[in-house]
Amino acid sequence: MSASERAHEGLQYTELTNFMGAEIHGIDLNVPLSEGAFADLRRLLADHSLLLLRNQDMSPDSQISFSRRFGELEEHVLQNFCLDGHPEIFVVSNIIENGEHIGAYGGSKEYHSDLAYIEAPSLGSVFYCLECTEVGGETSFISMYAVHDALPEERRTWLTQQKAVFDYPWNHEIRNAHRPPLTAAQIANTPPVSHPCVRTHPETGRRAAFYSPIWIRNFEGMSEEESQPILDELCEFAMRPEFTYTHKWQPGDVLIWDNRSSMHKANPFDEKNGRRLMHRTTICGDRPYLDG
Ligand SMILES: [Fe+2]
Repeated sequence: MSASERAHEGLQYTELTNFMGAEIHGIDLNVPLSEGAFADLRRLLADHSLLLLRNQDMSPDSQISFSRRFGELEEHVLQNFCLDGHPEIFVVSNIIENGEHIGAYGGSKEYHSDLAYIEAPSLGSVFYCLECTEVGGETSFISMYAVHDALPEERRTWLTQQKAVFDYPWNHEIRNAHRPPLTAAQIANTPPVSHPCVRTHPETGRRAAFYSPIWIRNFEGMSEEESQPILDELCEFAMRPEFTYTHKWQPGDVLIWDNRSSMHKANPFDEKNGRRLMHRTTICGDRPYLDG
């Protein structure tokens, strides 16, 4: 075992960086993990925010049953982009068949934590790569544990006392002018929600910063004009290379990320000529909180 390789109980893994990510070796996700091995894997995810398993040949049923061990799964509102017969699997793809997109395309090019604008944002996702391009299409991640720990003390103390108002319809209006406006029902289903800007990870007890360049309208008790420059400063800080890992995909890669301690974004690729096909399951989470 090399110096960078570790063993956590039965699992062999290599750290991807010194601040986030671990590649797990010797697991076939088509074979159910024992209770003990799954508990180890879950703990590794909580500690490292991101797990990579390479060379998988995972069936939709295996992906669903593996993902369910973390918790209930979200069924995406865009059911037309879910896999036939498997509403838990959301297809992310630029591929067009018979004149129609087979999956959601684009992907957010700005950092975010999935579903941060709802009361109980998702715990995390399992993202499986079936096809990707040689160039572009990477996914970048930020460790919000590392960001929290590295913030200047004064700013961290301030942030620890703040709540941010996440407002999906407001964000949609200012950032998606090219898309059709939300319907009255969609707006009614996504009222503004406040979350603490520093949250306690329920499994590790560690604190992570919790904010994002999109969806935050203002800090509670402050105007948008007062809030946005501070948010810009915080986001610029988080995007420093020392907190960022960019994953270059290979077919057969499975990434599991923990939304409670990370942000991610999609990187662009040649959507006209390249083919990308990913299967995603999204695990339901709990309401963010901060221990006193
Ligand atoms: Fe996302």
